[in-house]
Amino acid sequence: MHAIGIDIGGTKIAGALVSDQGEILREHRSPTPAGDPGAIVDVVVEMIEKLSVGEQVVAAGVAAAGFIDAAQSTVYYAPNINWRNEPFQERLSNRLNLEITIDNDANAAGWAEFRFGAGRLVSDMTMLTVGTGVGGAIVSRDHLFRGGFGAGAEIGHMRVVPNGLPCGCGARGCIEQYGSGRALLRMANEIADVRGIGNALADLRAEKGALTGEMVGQMIVAGDAGALHALRELGGWLGQACASLGAILDPQVFVFGGGVAAAGDLLLDPIREAYLAHLPARGYHPEPEFVTAELVNDAGVVGAADLARLHAETPRLGA
Ligand code: BGC
Ligand code: NA
Ligand code: ZN
Repeated sequence: MHAIGIDIGGTKIAGALVSDQGEILREHRSPTPAGDPGAIVDVVVEMIEKLSVGEQVVAAGVAAAGFIDAAQSTVYYAPNINWRNEPFQERLSNRLNLEITIDNDANAAGWAEFRFGAGRLVSDMTMLTVGTGVGGAIVSRDHLFRGGFGAGAEIGHMRVVPNGLPCGCGARGCIEQYGSGRALLRMANEIADVRGIGNALADLRAEKGALTGEMVGQMIVAGDAGALHALRELGGWLGQACASLGAILDPQVFVFGGGVAAAGDLLLDPIREAYLAHLPARGYHPEPEFVTAELVNDAGVVGAADLARLHAETPRLGA
């Protein structure tokens, strides 16, 4: 049976009708309305209605960038969106005649990679999504880890620097402040400030008024030394974090998704290096693989749909 997956991102909301083999049968996209969560609810309702016209749909899964409760209905907290104890499932269910589950965006993406992408050949996979924030998904012995209150696997809020930079979650020193797309932009600006290898970044910033993530991405592709330096720094932080995660979770593969993962080996190489440099039991612990996501932009919708379908088919026993 088909299911619907919706992925609410900072700039766009993506929705798809997905088969039980993870194939996208139909899709829709819409810009994310700013401000009030009610406006987002309206867009999601309309999208689910459009995607289900004339179809047998078993459930819909909605992925959002925040801490989700164990009942998969409330967004407790979203560090980069203005949601606090948002009863999202209820607001959607009131208007739709379909089973709805809410999931964390990175959990959805990670589950899609595990089922149909870069993690499909292993039992244990850890995924980090490197975008505006840093998201996490943990699959252990073929099972998606959610924690006791539902809000586990928030890898982005693992502390890597005691009393470090303040984070949107209210704490300080989270890896999200050192390993996200936003952190990359900050590092690129710092490099531009001191010029030297940042000359090209500084010139671009002066010309355009401000640097954007997209510009830094283009400078990376163009091989600019300053942009590449920032990316290596970012990879170093992520690799260190993976060394700690590796000691705890022991995955066979680390998967990197999100916009910054488009840099491929330019991101993975410094991650591997830092991982090896910081890994406890180095030289004795088998080495996991470090790869980029395969489903890229589709992972969120495919994973949200698959998790919703499993949830509807085997409540509480599914993923
Ligand atoms: C949020 C996570 C989310 C991640 C990626 C983090 O700031 O806490 O819930 O998965 O960003 O969007
Ligand atoms: Na997560
Ligand atoms: Zn944080």
